[in-house]
Amino acid sequence: PAWKALIVLAAYALGAVPFGLVLTRLFTGRDVRAVGSGNIGASNVARAAGKKLGVLTLVLDAAKASIPMLLMRALLADEGPAVAERWMIAVGLAAFLGHLYPVWLGFKGGKGVATALGVFAVLAPIPALLALVTFGAAYAATRVPAVGSLSGTAVCCLGAIVQTMLARGGASAAFASPVPWAALFVTLFIYLRHRANIARLLQGAENKV
Ligand code: G3P
Repeated sequence: PAWKALIVLAAYALGAVPFGLVLTRLFTGRDVRAVGSGNIGASNVARAAGKKLGVLTLVLDAAKASIPMLLMRALLADEGPAVAERWMIAVGLAAFLGHLYPVWLGFKGGKGVATALGVFAVLAPIPALLALVTFGAAYAATRVPAVGSLSGTAVCCLGAIVQTMLARGGASAAFASPVPWAALFVTLFIYLRHRANIARLLQGAENKV
């Protein structure tokens, strides 16, 4: 049990690494927090440092959840899928909260979209893929990353709930699994983190890329 808790803690510390901030500083010398929306995520890195670094930020911010989750799954291979799933979720949510509340940045972090994608890529790959496609379509149509993020997040959450319902044969059985709860938890935080984006969208003044 102690080593599992240590991996959860390590996932938080890794989740708290702001790859967007690090990459932008490394390659352009700029502080991404002083550009555009001020966010440390992939969208704002694309504004500050170009698309390639934006995509790299997306991949690294996702991997910082996926990799510790895959490690936990491998380490718990003998303990049965339900136990492994619970610890994987603990690891994934720790990385997600690390990104939102990074100890290294005075707990002022990002919006969690890429890191949530990393969590669900491992936990529920089909809903995660649907979310990515939704993001791509919504972004292509509007050029507003927040529209892609908010619609992709909703699709991922609904997809994870429906998939668990189908697998378990009904809603009450589905909510005995931690997966729908993890999806709702992540979605709530992501939407709360997009309050300013939503307000700007309603005014027709949201930042594009
Ligand atoms: O995932 C973050 C994205 O939805 C919005 O980022 O920089 O446009 O506020 P930004």
